[in-house]
Amino acid sequence: MGQYKKLWLLLIAVLTVCFTILGYMGSEIYKKAPPYPERVVTTSGKVLMTKDDILAGQSAWQTTGGMEVGSVLGHGAYQAPDWTADWLHRELTAWLDLTAQADYGKNFDKLTTEEQAVLKTRLQDEYRVQSAVKEDGSVIISETRAKAIETILPYYHGVYGDDPALQTTREHFAMKNNTLPSKEAREKLFNFFFWTSWSSSANRPDESFTYTNNWPHEPLINNVPTTENYMWSFTSIVLLLLGIGLLMWGYSFLTKHEEVEIPAEDPVAKIALTPSQKALGKYVFLTVALFCAQVLLGGLTAHYTVEGQGFYGIDKALGIEISDWLPYSLVRTWHIQSAIFWIATGFLTAGLFLAPIVNGGKDPKFQVAGVNFLYIALFIVVAGSYAGNFFALSHIMPPEFNFWFGHQGYEYLDLGRFWQLLLMVGLLLWLFLMLRCTVNAFREKGTDKNLLAIFVASMVGVGVFYAPGLFYGEKSPIAVMEYWRWWVVHLWVEGFFEVFATAAFAFIFYNMGFVRRSTATASTLAAAAIFMMGGIPGTLHHLYFTGSTSASMAIGACFSALEVVPLVLLGREAYEHWSYQNTTQWAKRLRWPLMCFVAVAFWNMIGAGVFGFLINPPISLFYIQGLNTTAVHAHAALFGVYGFLALGFVLLVARYIKPEAQFDDKLMSWGFWLLNGGLVGMIVISLLPIGAIQGYASVSQGLWYARSEEFLQMELLDTLRWVRTAADLVFIGGAFCISWQATKMVFGRSKNNA
Ligand code: HEM
Ligand SMILES: [Fe+2]
Repeated sequence: MGQYKKLWLLLIAVLTVCFTILGYMGSEIYKKAPPYPERVVTTSGKVLMTKDDILAGQSAWQTTGGMEVGSVLGHGAYQAPDWTADWLHRELTAWLDLTAQADYGKNFDKLTTEEQAVLKTRLQDEYRVQSAVKEDGSVIISETRAKAIETILPYYHGVYGDDPALQTTREHFAMKNNTLPSKEAREKLFNFFFWTSWSSSANRPDESFTYTNNWPHEPLINNVPTTENYMWSFTSIVLLLLGIGLLMWGYSFLTKHEEVEIPAEDPVAKIALTPSQKALGKYVFLTVALFCAQVLLGGLTAHYTVEGQGFYGIDKALGIEISDWLPYSLVRTWHIQSAIFWIATGFLTAGLFLAPIVNGGKDPKFQVAGVNFLYIALFIVVAGSYAGNFFALSHIMPPEFNFWFGHQGYEYLDLGRFWQLLLMVGLLLWLFLMLRCTVNAFREKGTDKNLLAIFVASMVGVGVFYAPGLFYGEKSPIAVMEYWRWWVVHLWVEGFFEVFATAAFAFIFYNMGFVRRSTATASTLAAAAIFMMGGIPGTLHHLYFTGSTSASMAIGACFSALEVVPLVLLGREAYEHWSYQNTTQWAKRLRWPLMCFVAVAFWNMIGAGVFGFLINPPISLFYIQGLNTTAVHAHAALFGVYGFLALGFVLLVARYIKPEAQFDDKLMSWGFWLLNGGLVGMIVISLLPIGAIQGYASVSQGLWYARSEEFLQMELLDTLRWVRTAADLVFIGGAFCISWQATKMVFGRSKNNA
């Protein structure tokens, strides 16, 4: 530890305290998650559903692709409704009409304001207070509410089935006909939708807000932000300002600027390539091939938002119903899964390239066999999980196999559990291949191992933190599932990936001679502590409204505001990475990977920092969860940061494993700027304006409205979705340029290392 002892202790303290907070909140979620009532009965004693029916509905929902068709509790896809908010609103309006008819002989909208106010007060009392869970675990609802449910059921059967009267609606929702063909399964599914709307309208025991902290915004039952929501939102904004200020002071006072003497020749290029490094060409290819597949699938997914079941009439001309076999839910699943697969493959490639360098330029025994085996394993996971998704969503796979082999229905962890396990094994194998290369380096006496240690720790984090995704099951409560799901997604992207990126940069640039070892080590350790401090408890910003207690808003909002602090100050690092290319002759050949790393910093600031914070304060997310503003953030951050990082990595690896090959500047320049331009375009001309207009609708009317068919099919919004096509094409063009360059490099002939 030596001179870095204080920094190591700081990092360990941060990890301990922060995981304790997150762990404690987890135990609260297990205890206080919205219950699944033993039975839901009417006042006359008729049993409407049991706990098993609701859970069977949760499973049935998974077989439709779950979060890939509309959303539940605000999490999922954006074209079809949020079923929680939609169900709630339909039930409430049906209740009001039924009661208005019974009491006044006319529909609710024909009543006087005063009469309406009386009914709304009764409605609120019935939904928020009277429907609490009783001691025996049952929920008792009024005959009117039961009738209201009965009134809205045909609509949902029609949407999820193939009722011709709802054909246009299904097209507007980008749902295929017969999204869930079996009537019995649909009945179960609607029990589950009912339950999610119940949990977001019934007050928590002894509280005046719902299990979901009053989400979704629904004026009819006074589902409005809680006091805690306001208080912690404002606190988080002030904390952000404080954090930025303190970091600037710390940076200015504590960092020393050192001049570094750049070596005359590239030190990395001097190390002879090992067989396992030479075997990485196919990894580079797999990364960019999956990237191309992903962007094409993305284009198709976006197209379904304007033409719900067709593709420019080409499918009809060929006599195929494209959406029967490749519906929105399936291509969106593949689109998101490919993103994870190719970005992960890019990271694995970088790690496998650096490992033998750590090992003194040698391969341990059978390293190349391990690298080749891992490649085959990755192929099997990708192909197997995609096939599983396909058979699940076309309902060829029996529903009892769905969770394990088909589709979990949980965004980002959509793949069947079996494939998820296999991927975990693959990541552990990667970790093993990496760690064995570091053993010798750690044994060597006399040299400073701190930088290596933090780099290794970051790899362990990336590898091991896929495991929490295995801690929930098919029938786990949604709140528990969400807790573990975000352990993976959030702790990866806002924790271990950030640290891995920082450590990998430090390690690479130290090896190239651009930075001193001491500076690289100290700044990586400090950055890791800062990222983790915000990132770990920040996980709770995904759980404000999923059924955790109100503390999730306090902790989530404040810590995740701190996450933004280092991100908006990345300009300095970007400048340094950019300037390396001009420091010496040999560095010019690294221009394009370096430019990708500059893009990483830029999009970290905009996509993660600014657009992340846009949706982060609870008051903001209360209204805009599940709107296109989330898509703005997800694209700008996930592609912008980790997409560019993975591309930078594979270009760097391609560059070194083919020392004679050169980047084609024209091709790379097109690729790089088309990607950036396309990303800016899809945000500025489409996603952000749609999100802002939806945001207005959500604040003024309620979330159900911002996601409704009526609203989303307005001409303006339809046009804004259409214009996205232009930006998508620009982006796809960029993706193909970069991928072609990488492929040419690794498979093209070169004089020495063909
Ligand atoms: C490079 C870093 C980041 C990446 C790759 C990333 C990626 C993502 C992704 C993929 C989602 C899910 C979107 C969806 O459900 O469709 C998400 C959601 C979210 N992100 Fe980030 N993110 C990053 C950093 C941040 C930061 C720094 C913040 C704010 C402090 C933030 C705040 C949020 C919030 C509040 C949500 C939840 C949105 C919702 O539930 O609707 N993210 N992020
Ligand atoms: Fe997050």
